Amino acid sequence: MEFSEVVRRRRMVREYEDRPLARDVVERVVASALRAPSAGFSQGWAFLVLTEADDRRRFWRHVPTRVENTPRIQNAPLVVVPLSHRDAYLERYARSDKGWTDRDEARWPVPYWHLDAAMASLLMLLTAVDEGLGAYFFGIAPENVAAFRADFDVPEAFTPIGAVSVGYRAVDLEPQAPSVSARRRPAEDVVHRGRFARHEEET
Ligand SMILES: Cc1cc2nc3c(=O)[nH]c(=O)nc-3n(C[C@H](O)[C@H](O)[C@H](O)COP(=O)(O)O)c2cc1C
Repeated sequence: MEFSEVVRRRRMVREYEDRPLARDVVERVVASALRAPSAGFSQGWAFLVLTEADDRRRFWRHVPTRVENTPRIQNAPLVVVPLSHRDAYLERYARSDKGWTDRDEARWPVPYWHLDAAMASLLMLLTAVDEGLGAYFFGIAPENVAAFRADFDVPEAFTPIGAVSVGYRAVDLEPQAPSVSARRRPAEDVVHRGRFARHEEET
């Protein structure tokens, strides 16, 4: 598929057919995450890959609210939880070429550890589309993180930035009609050329 087509087609797919994925497809989706850029090439991330039915069932216990609205989300044959590892960044940037030996988080313009895990997540979403699949990035509520960590032996130092489900899109899904409140914002509203110009609605 043309790259522009992959980008154009990507939508969050929240309902899946009950259909397994070939092992090599799973591996391609996961491998794409490792191609993401990372600040200082820190690669301070980890990916919890859940393909076994029991593991996936245990995972969904930690995101209960999503299931009510999207009953077939649990059909997804693949769930990947991208985890960010802040300390890997603090250590990487304390090395001599960066020299931030105080490890002060105030030095960071934004938390690059989360940013990089998000970039890796986007690559998985796009790879899923390229494979003819659907995928969905969603959050894990803060109150569920401790139980999730305990259930999957995730160390405290690793933060789940959300989760990515991947699978075959349910064939009977209605095409998504954007509501007025949820329309994609037009370029003239959000793209500022040359300087940040105030638009009518923001003044
Ligand atoms: C960081 C992030 C968190 C999100 N969390 C959720 C979520 O918890 N539940 C949900 O239904 N959608 C979630 N979404 C999906 C957005 O609602 C979706 O991307 C947006 O409505 C645009 O639709 P599209 O991605 O299909 O183009 C999340 C997206 C991002 C990037």
